Amino acid sequence: MVTNRIRRFYSYLLLLLHICFLFILNPASSSTEDTAAAISRFREFLQINTSQPSPDYAKATNFLLSQAKSLSLESQTLEFVKSKPLVLLKWPGSNPQLPSILLNSHTDVVPSETNKWSYHPFSAHLDSHGKIFARGSQDMKCVGMQYLEAIRRLKASGFQPVRTVYLSFVPDEEIGGHDGAKKFAESDVFKNMNVGIVLDEGLASPTESYRAFYAERCPWWLVIKARGAPGHGAKLYDNSAMENLFKSIESVRRFRASQFDLVKAGLKAEGEVVSVNMAFLKAGTPSPNGFVMNLQPSEAEAGFDIRVPPTAEAESLERRITEEWAPASRNMTFELGQFKHRVSMLSKFGKPILTATDSSNPWWSLLEEAVRKANGKLGKPEIFPASTDARYFRELGLPAIGFSPMANTPLLLHDHNEFLHQDEYLKGIDIYESIIKSYASYVQHTRDEVLRDEL
Ligand SMILES: *[C@@H]1O[C@H](CO)[C@@H](O)[C@H](O)[C@H]1NC(C)=O
Ligand SMILES: *[C@@H]1O[C@H](CO)[C@@H](O)[C@H](O)[C@H]1NC(C)=O
Repeated sequence: MVTNRIRRFYSYLLLLLHICFLFILNPASSSTEDTAAAISRFREFLQINTSQPSPDYAKATNFLLSQAKSLSLESQTLEFVKSKPLVLLKWPGSNPQLPSILLNSHTDVVPSETNKWSYHPFSAHLDSHGKIFARGSQDMKCVGMQYLEAIRRLKASGFQPVRTVYLSFVPDEEIGGHDGAKKFAESDVFKNMNVGIVLDEGLASPTESYRAFYAERCPWWLVIKARGAPGHGAKLYDNSAMENLFKSIESVRRFRASQFDLVKAGLKAEGEVVSVNMAFLKAGTPSPNGFVMNLQPSEAEAGFDIRVPPTAEAESLERRITEEWAPASRNMTFELGQFKHRVSMLSKFGKPILTATDSSNPWWSLLEEAVRKANGKLGKPEIFPASTDARYFRELGLPAIGFSPMANTPLLLHDHNEFLHQDEYLKGIDIYESIIKSYASYVQHTRDEVLRDEL
């Protein structure tokens, strides 16, 4: 009897404890609501078709302005080029003398082949595992919304920034950023913002460590052209255009393999080598049903997409082009994208365009610490293998860090079925909350800032 009563007493006690735990582990149901609201705002932004070449800028702008209003942020819409709006938001700091923080993201996305997706790329479908499928879920609407959600939380907690925090939503990164970030960086508006540090996009990481980027490779678009005497298809002779071009292609191929071997051997990261890929081959004399076969043409051309890390010696690569890939002695000429696409390798101060990732750059140390505080892991800083808008800010000599907090996520930017798991998205908000808090409360002048003030 007694033992039975004790047993019953214990089971009641257990039940009671269980109920208490449920309450403790599932705190304020408002936080569950907040989370659901954050996910739904993210999905709403993803559902706007901002696909190049004709993004729905009006809808994206209205959405962002309504977000700004709900957060009481100052806002303005800038059009450096008509109908290509850049939305600029401002959270004023208590000390406007201190250089500000710029959180940049782009609203446009690359096109999708809808029929190759499991869900429509602008449905922002949330599957039963928690994955959100949408074009832009990784590149980079996630980041733009995470900035806003982090600010929402900081504001709710009563946090006051010392430095002013700006958010720019730029319109055309996916097609080069010439009408958005580039013109913005060159503008008086930008000058007056007195920016001290820029955060921009990075890449998803399949491991548990986030990736951060301190520089990026510079695109050189090279076209080489060979000329030679034309001749009968049956004749063996020296220095035909095709033969001359092939000598170059062999040389390019050897160089490409030597660079790729460094990556394969683990000696260099992808962003640290010069990549060269043939983009086109143009030769032959057209005939109604193909090409004339019994003729060796007098001209032949090939185009290459070359990506050069800022740490590479540009002069030695140029010498390689003029001496080995397109030597005049072999009757070859070349165009380096008519120099239009050869973006400058040096900042306006004549230094390689990269952001320091050591103790000389307090923004780097603050970022590392803020990520750690939010229980995130950061991998070794890398050079971004392709181009982003961050280059326009680095060219001004400003520090810019490429960072998209997505760990445990396959790299699917520009791919079919691009997705981000909602838990990773939410974790990213924690990370930005920590970073923005740390950046906006940093009161010491950085060394560069002191130098700038003294100039
Ligand atoms: C997005 O909008 C563009 C331009 O209006 C359209 O061509 C494209 O098909 C749309 N994309 C999708 C996936 O709906
Ligand atoms: C270059 O062109 C000239 C004139 O057509 C020709 O005489 C010479 O053999 C060519 N040289 C080579 C290496 O192709």
